[in-house]
Amino acid sequence: MEKPFDIQLERLTGQASYSRPAAMNLASSQERGTFFLETFGCQMNDHDSEKVAGVLLARGYRQVETPEAAGLILYNTCSIREKAVQKVFSRLGEYRTKQVEGKIIGVLGCVAQQEGEAIFERAPWVSLVCGSASYRRLPEMIAQLETGNHRVTGLDTDTDETFETEMTRRDNPFRAYLTIIEGCDKSCSYCVVPYTRGPERSRASDSILREVRQLAELGYSEVQLLGQTVNSYADPTPRKMRFAELLLAAAEVPGIRRVRFTTSHPSDFTADIVQAIDSQPKICDHVHLPAQSGSGKVLREMQRTYTREEYLEKIAMIRGARRPIAITTDIIVGFPGETESDFEQTLSLLDEVRYDSLFSFKYSPRPNTAALRMNDPIPEEEKGRRLAVLQEKQREIQTARNLTLIGETVEVLVSGKSRRENQWSGYTSSHRVVNFTSPAKELLGTYVQARVTGATPNSLVGEHAV
Ligand code: SAH
Ligand code: SF4
Ligand code: F3S
Repeated sequence: MEKPFDIQLERLTGQASYSRPAAMNLASSQERGTFFLETFGCQMNDHDSEKVAGVLLARGYRQVETPEAAGLILYNTCSIREKAVQKVFSRLGEYRTKQVEGKIIGVLGCVAQQEGEAIFERAPWVSLVCGSASYRRLPEMIAQLETGNHRVTGLDTDTDETFETEMTRRDNPFRAYLTIIEGCDKSCSYCVVPYTRGPERSRASDSILREVRQLAELGYSEVQLLGQTVNSYADPTPRKMRFAELLLAAAEVPGIRRVRFTTSHPSDFTADIVQAIDSQPKICDHVHLPAQSGSGKVLREMQRTYTREEYLEKIAMIRGARRPIAITTDIIVGFPGETESDFEQTLSLLDEVRYDSLFSFKYSPRPNTAALRMNDPIPEEEKGRRLAVLQEKQREIQTARNLTLIGETVEVLVSGKSRRENQWSGYTSSHRVVNFTSPAKELLGTYVQARVTGATPNSLVGEHAV
C-alpha cells in the first residue's frame, strides 16, 4: 500500500519559472554537481551509503573526497551509543565557522531518524534530514533541494517498503553487501534500532537471488547478506523461502565462492542454518551471535527473549556441526542493575563459549528505550573497569585459539596489499584476518592458500603456500 508522501516543504526559494537549481547555482562552479558522503555506524549503514552514492551518481553527481570540494555534503549517521551521536554533532558543528553558502548539508541515517527536525535547530545550516526507512524517496528529496527548497525531511518509519536500487555503487570490488531484511521487530530494552530503522521488512527472495547473480556476473565472489536480525528473514513471496534455503540458493550461484551473513539473533537461530553451513562449504563457517550478557537476570531485563541456557543450547548446536564454525559475539557491560555477580556470569560465558572474537561496549542510555527508566545506573568508572576485565579475558582466549592454528593452511580472500614489499592481507571464511607474505605480483581479489606461521590476538601471520 502506498503511504502518504511525507516530504515537507518549508520554504520555497525558487520561483515557478526558475529552471536552474537555486542551491546548485550558488555553489562555485567546481562544486556544482559534486557530493561528499561520510558514513558512521554498522555495515547496514555502509551499504545504505553505497546505495545513496549510486543514486546520486545516476543523477549526474560526482563524488569528491572532501566536504570543501562538494556542493552536497551528506553524513550517514549512527545513534547506537551516545558517543556516536556526539561525533555527528561535532562534525556538523564544524560548519558554524565554515563557508556553507550555496552548499546543501544533509543528515541521513539513525541520528536523522532519532533527532528529526531538532537537527535544524541545533545545526540550522542542515537542509536535509532523512532516516533509512525513507531512502527510496531520496531522489525526490534531492530534486526538491535542487529546485530551491530550503528544508526537506523524510522521517516516516511506517513503511513496508525496502530500499532497493539498481544503481548501488559498491566500495569493495570483491565482497558485496546485500541487505535482505531491514528494520527490527525485537524490542531489546537498551536499543534504538527499532525506532531508527523502523519495523522489520524482508526483501523478496527472487529479487535477492537476481542481485546475487548480477553480482557474480560483475566479478564479486563473496556476498554478505545483511540485516539487524538477518536470520529472522521472512520471504514475502509465495515461495516462502527459509533463511537457510536462501543461503544455499545464494551459494549455488555460479561464480559465488563465499556467502556470509550477519547479524544473527539467538532466538531465531535454527538447526537448518547449521545444516546449511555443514552441507555447503561456500557458506562461511562463521556465526556472529550476540549474547549481550551471560546473566539470565540481565538478559531478562534487556528483553533479549532467551535465557543463558537457551543461548548455550544454540552454541552447542553450532559446535555440534561437522565443520568447525567460528563464533563471535557482542557484549554490553554495565547495564542498569548489573551486579558484580551478573558480570562474573558474563565472564564465565566467555570461558564456556571461547569466542573467536568479541565486540564489547559500555552500556549507553538511549532516548525512547525502556532501559532509560531503569534504576541503579552503574558509574562510568565501574563500566570502564568491567570492560577492561572482559577485554583482557577475551584477549587471552583469542590468543590461545589463534595459536592452535599455527601450522594449518587456510584459504584467504586477498583484499589488501601492504606498502611493505611482498605483504598481503585478507580474510578467511571464518572471518580471521591473515597477514601473509607472497612474492606474487598481483593477488588482490584472488583466493590463496596461506600457511599459518604465527598468531596475535586479532590476526594470523602466514606465508603463501604454493
Ligand atoms: N541487531 C544486533 C545488534 C545491533 S547493534 C543484535 O541484535 O545483536 C550492535 C551492538 O551494539 C549490539 O549487539 C549491542 O551489543 C550494542 N548496543 C546496542 N545498544 C547499545 C547501548 N544502548 N549501549 C551500549 N551498547 C549497545
Ligand atoms: Fe537492537 Fe535488539 Fe533489534 Fe538487535 S535485536 S537491533 S539489539 S532491538
Ligand atoms: Fe548505528 Fe543505526 Fe547501525 S544506530 S549501528 S547505524 S542501525
